[in-house]
Amino acid sequence: MNAREMKVKAAQAALAHVEDGMRLGIGTGSTAEEFVRLLAERVHDGLKIQGVPTSERTARLCVELGVPLKSLDELPELDLAIDGTDELDDNLTLIKGGGGALLREKIVASASARMLVIADETKLVKTLGAFPLPIEVNPFGHIATRIAIEKAASRLGLSGELTLRRGAEDVFMTDGGHYIFDASFGRIPDAEALSGELNSIPGVVEHGLFIHMASLAIIAGEAGARTLEAK
Ligand code: A5P
Repeated sequence: MNAREMKVKAAQAALAHVEDGMRLGIGTGSTAEEFVRLLAERVHDGLKIQGVPTSERTARLCVELGVPLKSLDELPELDLAIDGTDELDDNLTLIKGGGGALLREKIVASASARMLVIADETKLVKTLGAFPLPIEVNPFGHIATRIAIEKAASRLGLSGELTLRRGAEDVFMTDGGHYIFDASFGRIPDAEALSGELNSIPGVVEHGLFIHMASLAIIAGEAGARTLEAK
């Protein structure tokens, strides 16, 4: 099974958690997009859902495929958010934001009664951090914010390059008009401590650590899809 087939497998298994009438948070990224394609087929067959997208990119795909959308302001309480991840551990702590949508993804996930993560097994790790942690920052004073992040990380014994994410031509800009630093810490043994430090820096808008947010993960591998529950 190649990587795409595993993503499709996870997305297919996620569909079993979608019920008629649900208000759904719809994630961003290649795995979430496989889910949108499958969801669109069900919608065409008569499934009634209302979706809230976590990015402009996801919104465009939903519109193209005919998945009904509302804004989070129109639908501020959701039943279920379904999203991919860049890394997860067996306690369902996540690193997200590789696709640059972490802020809206986190807002949508926290507005949802449950969050279901869909991933292929390469995303499951013992200790988070091999994937660089995306940290969304306000463009104003972003160099000062970078220094503050480095100091905060070093208080926790973490170090590594903070790379300002670039787009095709210029600095990458999120849907919210912010920049992203990708922090190569290597290992993040204490995600809660790092989250607390990052949240206390004024220029940090949000970071990609999702802690105690996902309740269930569907992990697809060669042997099929299995579920992992938060401990
Ligand atoms: C988007 O900002 C991310 O959080 C994605 O959910 C994450 O990058 C997973 O993307 P893939 O499914 O493409 O790996």
